[in-house]
Amino acid sequence: MNRLLLLPLLPAALLLTAPPAARAQKAVPKTMLSAAPNAALTARLAPLVAAEQASVVAWRRDLHEHPELGNEETRTAAFVAAQLKSWGLEVQTGVARTGVVGVLKGGKPGRVVALRADMDGLPLTETSGLAFASTVKTTYLGQPVGVMHACGHDTHVAMLLGAAHALSQVRQQLPGTVKFIFQPAEEGSVPGTVGGARLMVQEGVLDKPKVDAIFGLHIWASGPVGQLWYRPRGEMASSDRFSVKIIGRGAHGAKPWASVDPVVTAAQLITSLQTIVSRQLDLTQDAAVVTVGTVQAGVRYNIIPPDATISGTIRAFSPATQQRIWDSIRRMAAGIAAANGATAEVSIEPYVPVTFNDPALTAQMLPTLQRAANGAANVVEIKAVTGAEDFACFQEKIPGVFIFLGGMTPGTDPATVADHHTAGFKVDETSFPLGVRTLVSLAVDYLSEGTKK
Ligand code: NI
Repeated sequence: MNRLLLLPLLPAALLLTAPPAARAQKAVPKTMLSAAPNAALTARLAPLVAAEQASVVAWRRDLHEHPELGNEETRTAAFVAAQLKSWGLEVQTGVARTGVVGVLKGGKPGRVVALRADMDGLPLTETSGLAFASTVKTTYLGQPVGVMHACGHDTHVAMLLGAAHALSQVRQQLPGTVKFIFQPAEEGSVPGTVGGARLMVQEGVLDKPKVDAIFGLHIWASGPVGQLWYRPRGEMASSDRFSVKIIGRGAHGAKPWASVDPVVTAAQLITSLQTIVSRQLDLTQDAAVVTVGTVQAGVRYNIIPPDATISGTIRAFSPATQQRIWDSIRRMAAGIAAANGATAEVSIEPYVPVTFNDPALTAQMLPTLQRAANGAANVVEIKAVTGAEDFACFQEKIPGVFIFLGGMTPGTDPATVADHHTAGFKVDETSFPLGVRTLVSLAVDYLSEGTKK
């Protein structure tokens, strides 16, 4: 399968290929960790969470062996729904096509917190060599392909199920409601269609009951087991696709004066677009990317074509920067086309907003992450990641925090790790207990903080 073909469809994840660079933090002794806001409930949950590991591994292996592409997660959804129902949760299916939502109402009044996992696999033929490797095959965009959980979404589903089961056993003590969101199609929908997190939001997943805050995590193949990685504010980039069609006038290549040359105009525009990041943005605030990935014009060397089209991707870490880049592209395209006697048609398709970790909520939950990871040294602030993640669509509506969970066997050289979205992708299952503990702790601490006097 030619991965490049998938590029326009899969910006969310393909960009996860560059791992976030970790910055070591000063070790803080464990004794310095603050106490959990609801110590009794936290203590009660500890053995329940630990007891989930065997199930989480078994669920994960089963899901891994049976991956499904985005919007086709019917087996996964049925499995998730059956588990949640068996634990007494209210379950809604068919959300954003194949999504599942479970609601756990606690025995005490309080706020509503959501925990989210994505469920989809990727069109790749697995070569991991795992005993439970996928042998599933399907057709994608007319091509025969294998299907594989090559981004670890199987682990996300299994860990969130573990969290749901543990929390369901303490529901009477729970001060508020937990909504478990099992989301389809994080990797993208068919072009031109809305799917994944955005469609879930449109269908009201954050309403009834209204969600106050949302948390999610992503396993990370090159982060050591036992570590959590996060970044306040812009953590992962927005991802927009843009294209500009330059409309000129064709002519014989030997008589360029008879043309309005769209090729030369496009060349000027491509060069000028490079100055948006280098000359127009305050790079001390946050980074940005404007990449032109395609240039299409003409069919023969001695014919000046009537038009030329370029397309590319925009990455930004704040909505303000994102808007500024959009404005610059439109202004430059119109101005440079006009200067050459041509016209420009600009199309900007927003795909995923900035994965923006609410600063106040991130600061509030940092002690929770440090307790879950057994020490502040295991919670690492990372550089911004230019990949995108559609969890951002939830964060556009309500405060949320998105975290990376180390999935690499400690002592491994990260350079040797089979990356996300590759056929050999693998993670260490001993990472799961921290993942489940983190999800459970975020929910319990958030709800408990909300009820403190
Ligand atoms: Ni992913």
